[in-house]
Amino acid sequence: MTQHSPVSVETNGTIAWITIDYPPVNATSNAVRAGLNDALTMLAPTKVAFLQCAGRTFVAGGDMSEFDAPPVLPHLPDVVQAIEDSPVPIVALMHGTVLGGGFEIAMACAWRIASADTRFGLPEVNVGLIPGAGGSQRLPRLIGFAASVDIACSGKMVSAKELLTIGGLDLVIEGDLKQAAREFAKNLPERPVPVSQLTVSDIGNLGQIRKQLVMRAKGQRSPLHNLNSLEWSALPFYQGQPKERALHLELRATSESRALRYAFFAERAVAKPREIAGAKARDINQIVIVGGGLMGAGIATTMLNADLSVTLIERDADAAAAAYGRVENLLNEALTRGKITAENMAIRLAKFRTTTDYKDASTGDLAIEAVFEDVAVKSDVFAQLAAVMSDTAILATNTSYLDTTEIFAGIPHPERCLGLHFFSPAHIMKLLEIVKTPNTSTEVLATGFALGKRMRKISVLSGICDGFIGNRMLSAYRREADYLLTDGALPYEVDAVMRAFGMPMGPYELQDLTGLQIAWANRKRQASSRDPEERYIAIADQLCELGRLGQRNGLGWYKYEEGSRAPIRDDLVENLIEAYSAENGITRRDFSAEEISTRLLAVLAAEGKQIINEGIAEREADVDTVQINGYGFPRWRGGPMHYANEIRE
Ligand code: NAI
Repeated sequence: MTQHSPVSVETNGTIAWITIDYPPVNATSNAVRAGLNDALTMLAPTKVAFLQCAGRTFVAGGDMSEFDAPPVLPHLPDVVQAIEDSPVPIVALMHGTVLGGGFEIAMACAWRIASADTRFGLPEVNVGLIPGAGGSQRLPRLIGFAASVDIACSGKMVSAKELLTIGGLDLVIEGDLKQAAREFAKNLPERPVPVSQLTVSDIGNLGQIRKQLVMRAKGQRSPLHNLNSLEWSALPFYQGQPKERALHLELRATSESRALRYAFFAERAVAKPREIAGAKARDINQIVIVGGGLMGAGIATTMLNADLSVTLIERDADAAAAAYGRVENLLNEALTRGKITAENMAIRLAKFRTTTDYKDASTGDLAIEAVFEDVAVKSDVFAQLAAVMSDTAILATNTSYLDTTEIFAGIPHPERCLGLHFFSPAHIMKLLEIVKTPNTSTEVLATGFALGKRMRKISVLSGICDGFIGNRMLSAYRREADYLLTDGALPYEVDAVMRAFGMPMGPYELQDLTGLQIAWANRKRQASSRDPEERYIAIADQLCELGRLGQRNGLGWYKYEEGSRAPIRDDLVENLIEAYSAENGITRRDFSAEEISTRLLAVLAAEGKQIINEGIAEREADVDTVQINGYGFPRWRGGPMHYANEIRE
């Protein structure tokens, strides 16, 4: 072992302790693999060896930065096999998260012991891969086929308790892990048959499982690759394992895996904008929210979930009571779905109050408004907040489109003002656009990012423009879709093409779902400043004028049956579109699916580029992260900027 190896061995009588110390997550990098190989040669004459990790976690995956190059010796499957074959039996002694290669190592050990809060998973599917070191072959042998599909095809994590119940662990420890290990060594059970030598008896109804995966995957291939690979566990290990390895290496080079790895690194990068490098975030505990409608209630819930205290101001007592009810409902939904316990709910509600009196905001550290989308209303709210709150209290607007400079005009200490643009439903959607005004201080921005992290959001920094990064791109995308309609396509065709590309919904279904009125109000607002030369399509305006505002009144771009969300083509809309083309002297023509998707995706990428050029977004990673986490752009395509780069190559 070299002097700097991240793996060390210490022997103490009949016990050996193998320790991996490779911060931050003890990834199975070249150095760790080599260190483990060396460590295995140093165990004799002990009776048992415990494999443990220093720091906050057991091995939590591979080193993704190595995935672009050919693998370097020693290969992980060989190291894992050597662990299983070690003459001195090895016990995995685990804490933190045991992921990917870490889980594969653990499954090759003779026994598995974990502290109670440990979590386990095979997240390879999330980066377009399958396990590459026997994970898909040993897991079904250890816990059965159905449970393995559940873990490997979704990438989700399971708790130590769950894994113990399904046979994946030997012991779960509440107290001191090392002490438990010593006790275990005193009464060492008989060495079990190695996991690779067990057989998988029942692989269930594969056809049914495959059908469900295809439906959920929306074009992504890796869940199916994982299923195929799990299926090979019915073969003898010496046949299944090389097949798994070969497919793993092949998948590393696919565009899907490249895109998913890119998205992973992009999200990490956007969390640390250059703009706030070195700035220190302030402590935030008390939140004030003004407006408890759709957004305000969602924001309050997400803040309460982050263990913050929330005071919500509404216009009058009835509106305040309604807002309280909305938040209670959202928490109740979480309770029903098992996301929180009744005790958690009570703790959250104890930190929540509604009021109509601005004086109750006086001790707040940060206030966020989610009132009507109207500059005058919003400015008035901030004037009232500024009058009662301290000069350092942070003031944030959740506006979707309005100019934050106008909203904050005249507010003293403008360095504390910023935009915090949540997405609906705010307690679920991951994306948060943090909008920097010309005056916002870096400390205030850093506080916004820290708050985002606390709420488990993915925060992206945006400059000021109409719609910020996300909605500006959405406007461009919709505009282009409307050109397609006017020139010959129909809404259902455009929607089907974008769904086939991997979007959860097409642009018209999405408008019906979210409602047509906000964008309508926005277009009216922009009318006076719109370039008269710009090609403007008024079909959506005509629908709104007919009262077709989307699903909520059963009519939009489609029609809906009472109580159903399934869009049905409507002759009235299609006739209206055709009449619009005729009135504007346009001869309608057919569009191929490829032409539709190419045009819409090209427009997204072009608008993204423009946003970067204008300095609204720092880099492509920001634009792609916004699209993936706020607008349903398929993660496995990497975002519009990454996708454009891929098809250009
Ligand atoms: P909403 O109409 O559901 O809620 C607005 C709430 O603000 C109502 O409960 C109303 O009583 C209250 N309110 C109005 N004026 C007030 C005042 N002066 N003082 C106290 N409370 C007042 O609207 P929604 O959808 O929640 O939108 C709120 C803001 O969030 C808007 O600026 C909107 O553009 C923005 N937004 C909306 C999104 C959406 O998907 N609906 C997404 C992101 C931002």
